Amino acid sequence: MDSQVFKTCFLLFTLSCGIFQEMLAASDRATRREIEVVAVGDREAAIQRVIDHNDPKIPPDFEKDYPTVIVVQLFIASFASISETTMDYALSMYLRQRWVDPRTTYDPLPGVDLLELDARVMNQIWVPDMYFVNEKAAHFHEITVPNKLMQVYPNGTIMYSARLSMTLSCDMFLQKFPFDSQECYMTMESYSYSVKNVVFHWHDDPLVLKKDLKLPQFKFVKMEHINCTRAYEGTGTYTCLQAKFYLERTYGYYVAQVFLPCILIVVLSWVSFYLDIDAVPARISLGLLTVLTMTTMSANARAHLPRVSYIKAIDVWMAMCLFFVFAALIEFAYVNVNARVEKRRTTQAGGLQLNFSQGSSSPGENGEGKKKRLFSKTTIGRDRARRLDKISRYLFPGIFVCFNIFYWTFYMLWEPTHDHEQ
Ligand SMILES: *[C@@H]1O[C@H](CO)[C@@H](O)[C@H](O)[C@H]1NC(C)=O
Ligand SMILES: *[C@@H]1O[C@H](CO)[C@@H](O)[C@H](O)[C@H]1NC(C)=O
Repeated sequence: MDSQVFKTCFLLFTLSCGIFQEMLAASDRATRREIEVVAVGDREAAIQRVIDHNDPKIPPDFEKDYPTVIVVQLFIASFASISETTMDYALSMYLRQRWVDPRTTYDPLPGVDLLELDARVMNQIWVPDMYFVNEKAAHFHEITVPNKLMQVYPNGTIMYSARLSMTLSCDMFLQKFPFDSQECYMTMESYSYSVKNVVFHWHDDPLVLKKDLKLPQFKFVKMEHINCTRAYEGTGTYTCLQAKFYLERTYGYYVAQVFLPCILIVVLSWVSFYLDIDAVPARISLGLLTVLTMTTMSANARAHLPRVSYIKAIDVWMAMCLFFVFAALIEFAYVNVNARVEKRRTTQAGGLQLNFSQGSSSPGENGEGKKKRLFSKTTIGRDRARRLDKISRYLFPGIFVCFNIFYWTFYMLWEPTHDHEQ
């Protein structure tokens, strides 16, 4: 009985609590709506104030004896088409800059943290004149409206972000190609304001990569950011920031498309040593075919590479493979000539002996014996040729394996030194 009363009381209590809460929430919503109604008018006024007081022609602290600090952050959205022929790379990113412009302060509005400016009024606000020193081509994105964002805080802090795609030059060193690593950089400077007026600082988290960023042929090793502020003769000191990207080539593609086929062709050229020394058409066509294939392959492998003055790892490989198949062809030529010369010599010797025996008419050596000697001498030549083939069967693979051991250890361990000027 008691518990029944208690239960009813409890139920009533929770019900009234709920109703009370709902009433509170409703009144809260009403006040918020009121604030919003007020704020719309105020926001317009604030934006107008910001625009009126700013001047895109004059940097924020132009009159003062300290520079405006621009905090820079890059968000890399994509990183693509690293081209060896033109020595450049393309990327698209969000360039974020933050600075304080004392002219754009406004009274804080209730319920409003910041003002978001439209792309069409942004050109009435001063923005830093950053440019990219190693840029070849670049563009902002304009679809459907300019991809820019500007937020103005009451204390005058301006946050400016723009989306841009660029092609930047990158000095590549291809001595180790395709086992190489490349260092590409991006240099940002202020074009017209010296360090007296504008200074760039890196953000605390300066370079942000999109999470699942994939490069077609490279993998990201690391990124670095430095301050490259420097003095120019005659014009003054200009603020400069540099981002460095360390990329390592994934050479799996080249192993599958270039190195393995080359090995197979070299191995194919050794088949010649197992063929009979009289199989001239077979051995010649095998030799020529492998040489021609190697020539075509090395031309293909070099098609997308710049004509640099130094020797690349792939050139060494191609040259050596060509050398091996060529040597196999030459081996056959040598073997063949060897066998034939021996044959001719014995034939001549036999002929002389025949004449001599006829002239002196000495008994003992009859025609049978001469034929036997002729036959045995020819066999000696052919045996030697066969022996050469047999030796080649071990010699060629042996040398090729040695070359491979040397080649792979050398290019895996060697670190070429080159001076990056920037
Ligand atoms: C200005 O206000 C923003 C947002 O409230 C804040 O993050 C920033 O530190 C302030 N800047 C200065 C210079 O006070
Ligand atoms: C960058 O380097 C210049 C000159 O070396 C120096 O004056 C400036 O303070 C540096 N900037 C930063 C953000 O460290």
